[in-house]
Amino acid sequence: MINTINKIETKILFLDKDNLLSHLNKYDYIFMITHKKIEELITKSMFCDFQYKTIFIDEGESTKNLSTIESIINELALFGCNRNSLVIGLGGGVVSDITGFIASIYMRGINHILIPTTLLGMVDAAIGGKTGINFQNRKNLIGTFKQPENIYIDLSFLDSLDNKEILNGFSEIVKYGLIYDKNLFFELVDNFNQLISLQNIDKLKEIIIQCYRFKEKVVAKDQFDKGERMILNFGHTVGHALESYYKDEGISHGDAIYYGMIVESYISYKIGLLKIYEFKKINKFISSIQKFEIKGLNIDKLLNYIKMDKKQSIAQNRFILLNGIGNGVIKNNIEKEIIKEALDKI
Ligand SMILES: NC(=O)c1ccc[n+]([C@@H]2O[C@H](COP(=O)([O-])OP(=O)(O)OC[C@H]3O[C@@H](n4cnc5c(N)ncnc54)[C@H](O)[C@@H]3O)[C@@H](O)[C@H]2O)c1
Repeated sequence: MINTINKIETKILFLDKDNLLSHLNKYDYIFMITHKKIEELITKSMFCDFQYKTIFIDEGESTKNLSTIESIINELALFGCNRNSLVIGLGGGVVSDITGFIASIYMRGINHILIPTTLLGMVDAAIGGKTGINFQNRKNLIGTFKQPENIYIDLSFLDSLDNKEILNGFSEIVKYGLIYDKNLFFELVDNFNQLISLQNIDKLKEIIIQCYRFKEKVVAKDQFDKGERMILNFGHTVGHALESYYKDEGISHGDAIYYGMIVESYISYKIGLLKIYEFKKINKFISSIQKFEIKGLNIDKLLNYIKMDKKQSIAQNRFILLNGIGNGVIKNNIEKEIIKEALDKI
């Protein structure tokens, strides 16, 4: 065990055979939810000393649906999963959202652990206990809150990850820097290429722990997403709108969030929360990251998507902004003209 940080109920550990075995020994049956492709990456030596039943699910966002849940429950029931069984989610955010949801409803709740295999999973999706599946084209419309017992991190999973997926995960790390930790942000600016090409794994490990600590702290104050947790949505109000707008062109979540962070930083500058040189620094850095090219944007249409964002209330708009780099704040009632001007920065 390299590192342990106490959380609400969850611990984050770096994966090794001993810590995993001692955890798993207390369960009758173990079930692992994963994708075929990821199971092939498992080093057999890590998992060879215990018996588990693997349940494969398809890859991709479209797998997060009720029929996947039904088929997993069928398998769990068929193979005798009981309240003293454990479910392991081995994969990215799709696997962790599904695994957490299953663990929260099967027999009114059984224990689960997560082994995130994407960077986004390690710094975001596995942390905080939100689970979700999509329903009738609406993302995460159905979901629960269920904390995993432990989260096990193994950075070697990142070796096989596409560069696009690494950049996707980094968008959330940049977000943490901007809303929470100025030094982290400047560290990313200075070392970005080295970090995204996985040339400095020790530094990346430190950064993952920092992100975990930050999210854990926010979640501990607002486990059920009623207030403070909204801060984690910096870049996401505009980002989610861009994801809906360019859904058919295939914009990634990370790319949409990068653009969202530029727009929301500009709004922060316009209402006097951020200095112009701070905005310029953010804009220059994020603009230098290779990403989806935005073309033919109709700002009024995008504004309609922004209104549909989950965090908006009927009466007033709501944005997460920056009161200086490293300090996220929630603000309501931003003038439409300022939002439009900011969207022009895309
Ligand atoms: N619950 C939360 O708090 C939370 C937070 C953020 C995101 N999410 C959810 O997470 C999902 C996105 O997660 P994601 O970005 O990890 O995507 P993902 O789970 O779809 O994984 C991306 C792709 O990478 C592949 N992959 C995973 N690990 C790999 C590895 N080690 N090597 C090679 N390929 C690998 C997957 O098979 C998949 O094709 C979304 O559904 C989102 O809603 C949830």
